Amino acid sequence: MKKYDIAVIPGDGIGPEVIAQGLKVLDAVSSKYGFQLSFHPYDLGGEQYKRTGEALPEKVFESIKGCHAIYLGAIGHPEVPPGVLEKGILLRLRFELDQYINLRPVKLYPGVEIPLKDKGPEDIDFAVIRENTEGLYAGAGGYLRRGTRHEVAIQESINTRMGVERCVRFAFEFCMRRNQRKKLTLCGKTNVLTYAFDLWERTFKEIAQAYPDIETDYAHVDALCMWMIKNPESFDVIVTDNMFGDIITDLAAILQGGMGMAAGANIAPEGISMFEPIGGSAPKYAGQNIVNPIAAILAARLMLETLGESASARVIEKAVTKVLAEDMKGVAAGQMGYSTSEVGDLIVEFIEKS
Ligand code: IPM
Ligand code: MN
Repeated sequence: MKKYDIAVIPGDGIGPEVIAQGLKVLDAVSSKYGFQLSFHPYDLGGEQYKRTGEALPEKVFESIKGCHAIYLGAIGHPEVPPGVLEKGILLRLRFELDQYINLRPVKLYPGVEIPLKDKGPEDIDFAVIRENTEGLYAGAGGYLRRGTRHEVAIQESINTRMGVERCVRFAFEFCMRRNQRKKLTLCGKTNVLTYAFDLWERTFKEIAQAYPDIETDYAHVDALCMWMIKNPESFDVIVTDNMFGDIITDLAAILQGGMGMAAGANIAPEGISMFEPIGGSAPKYAGQNIVNPIAAILAARLMLETLGESASARVIEKAVTKVLAEDMKGVAAGQMGYSTSEVGDLIVEFIEKS
């Protein structure tokens, strides 16, 4: 029997509640589909940091590196200054484990309400491939004369040929496998960021030569935001840099019903990948059992898909589709007609019966 060690980091805010539902679902599919998941919980996040002053202790990191994948809830705490936990835990895991792809599927399931009045599930089904280790996130820059009236703050976007190339190549490969549409859009800002996105565009065009079956397209990030709302059906796969990918996937989350529906995979094609709902810790909802766990459950689905357990990933997808269409009244916190844990139960029930 195949056995996977999964590092589980429930983290802050609503993280633990939604991850608990994902773990229930993972238990249900693993016993049904004959593989074993062994969960290794790690107490990381704001509370741990406040107690110890350390975001990600070395020993803990070493132990996480022994796992096959990471299942993460959310990182971010109102009493910890912004950036400390994000850089100390989330970005550190992404960077040091070389999870250079952030894959974010954007799919509207039947029965889910969104703010766009004329678009439905047949129009909204695409994926964003976000570069996940470079760009503005690399942390290059610094201050001069900090705190004075002559202060200078510089934050530079780092784009390496190697980093751009491996991301773009992944996007082409992913686009080939995804479905029959085979359309890849590069999202950039070649009209202003003339160095960084020149490198992206040249790399994109060069790699495209090897994929004659894929239709390629380019959009500036601002225009792409407009198209995403106006014509979401025109997208299949979008590839972009770290910062733009961060921004457009929050916009895209709304096309799927909101943050409670959006999942992401931080993929290290040669190493340990990490799977998370992308909605954040939402402290105001924490501990009330009212938030939507579907994003966390879809993150678990992405994990199984990446580990090669496709049959179990498919049954989760079916269960989510059914529960959204037939059971849940809404997808927003407090409006589901069910509690967080009841939604988890409905998904598990479907899996056990199927
Ligand atoms: C995300 C989040 C993170 C990011 C934050 C929490 C650092 O917004 O995963 O999109 O900016 O990447
Ligand atoms: Mn984000």
